[in-house]
Amino acid sequence: MKIVAVNGSPRKNWNTDALLKNVLEGAASKGAETKMVYLYDLSFSGCKSCMSCKLKGGKNLGRCVLRDDLTPVLDEVHASEALVLGSPMYWHEVTGVMRCFIERFLFQYLNYDDPGKPLSPQKDIALIYAMNMPENMLEGSGYLKKFSDYQELFAKFFGHCSVLYAPETLQVKDYSKYHLAVIDGEARQCRHETVFPLECQKAYELGVSMAMRHAGA
Ligand SMILES: Cc1cc2nc3c(=O)[nH]c(=O)nc-3n(C[C@H](O)[C@H](O)[C@H](O)COP(=O)(O)O)c2cc1C
Repeated sequence: MKIVAVNGSPRKNWNTDALLKNVLEGAASKGAETKMVYLYDLSFSGCKSCMSCKLKGGKNLGRCVLRDDLTPVLDEVHASEALVLGSPMYWHEVTGVMRCFIERFLFQYLNYDDPGKPLSPQKDIALIYAMNMPENMLEGSGYLKKFSDYQELFAKFFGHCSVLYAPETLQVKDYSKYHLAVIDGEARQCRHETVFPLECQKAYELGVSMAMRHAGA
């Protein structure tokens, strides 16, 4: 089986990247072929509403016709058995590039004739989020609702969707060098050394379970 990770963080080797790499390593440990895509390395736009993917008798029904750096990524994801999306939370949302990816990726599969029957192939999906928000504020700030809304949306298209999130992430290596006074840098560093490795372990296990569901594919 093949699993593609799509990274919506601009920062390589930081939190989102580490979580996604763990998913891929877990999947690879069970024989999966893996691929990481960094959206910030690509030049692409969101959906332009050209409607070519809905044209009657058209040869592109269910497939995005825009041609840019996202085109081969959409093709690769279309043909893969599993997809993991990772994004930091920026202004209480996934990053702008991740929204653009989601627009393009999902709209092509949306079936206005029969919304209950999307044009997407069945696919195992996982959604991963990294954020500053403290764990005990996730509920009150609406983040858990947002994660479950995205989960429901992806499950409608692809059947199976898991969620994993890492709150209170390390944002900089040395908090003393930045104007970030509301954040307790020492506590963040401590969490990064004690809790974040457990979150990475969960990500690894998620990759293992995704690969196991498709063993032999
Ligand atoms: C432009 C910007 C906006 C952000 N907005 C939020 C936010 O609304 N909520 C939050 O919890 N964290 C926010 N953050 C913090 C990031 O989500 C956090 O640092 C995350 O770990 C970044 O992921 P990365 O380490 O993979 O780059 C923001 C960071 C930036 C740069």
